[in-house]
Amino acid sequence: MIFRKSGGETEDILSLPVHIGIIMDGNGRWAKKRGLPRTAGHKAGANNFRTITKYASSIGIKYLTVYAFSTENWTRPETEVSALMKLFKSYLEEALADFMDENIRVRFLGDVSKFNPELQKLIHEVEEASACKTGMVLNLAMNYGGRDDIVHSVRQLAEKVKAGEIEPSDIDEDKINTYLYTEGQPDPDLIIRPSGEQRLSNFLIWQAAYSEFVYFDVLWPDFKKEDLDEAIRIYNARNRRFGGV
Ligand code: FPP
Repeated sequence: MIFRKSGGETEDILSLPVHIGIIMDGNGRWAKKRGLPRTAGHKAGANNFRTITKYASSIGIKYLTVYAFSTENWTRPETEVSALMKLFKSYLEEALADFMDENIRVRFLGDVSKFNPELQKLIHEVEEASACKTGMVLNLAMNYGGRDDIVHSVRQLAEKVKAGEIEPSDIDEDKINTYLYTEGQPDPDLIIRPSGEQRLSNFLIWQAAYSEFVYFDVLWPDFKKEDLDEAIRIYNARNRRFGGV
């Protein structure tokens, strides 16, 4: 297929990943390198999130999942957590208009009931307002943890067993998938982690069973459209066998 890259040139590739996941890491180090507070790094990261989201949509990516706040991020200093909450609020408000223009549907992965009521209201508004959009699905993983995702699914299945609606032997991979936050969506084909760290950090651990990982030695605020092009190129060179030969 022809893939139109950031510079406007085209390149022949075999396939475009349907679902890309990004662990937006390195905001704090980006700020430190510049002698700025960590919150300045998050702000730069949020700006880049907007740029890369629009670019992913423009090249035909169908699902993009970004890790914005993990279930473990609450342990950060209170000042950093509250700065992040403020940032989420202002970006959701601003970015919404942008995303609507781009026909992007926004969904949230994670237990959003832990956020303050104002942010929760905004989250529901964004989901509702964009529900009719037919372009790229943007999943914002917020208060998300892969282990929590599995627990959340299994707990609902246990309730069904308790109510006599299903038998324990009915529980299979499809059933667990049905109650994950990503219900109805394909598993990520490609997971990208900037910042040089090479781990999943509890991101989509169930869904990533056969994902291709690409790590970049670039901090998230510096991650460019060209880096996404490069990740897609690397993905295309991989030989996916899904356990077969
Ligand atoms: C990890 O970098 C980044 C985060 C915990 C926050 C990510 C959030 C954003 C990029 C804002 C996105 C905004 C919206 C609305 C989705 P780090 O702080 O762990 O960096 P470090 O490892 O260099 O310290």
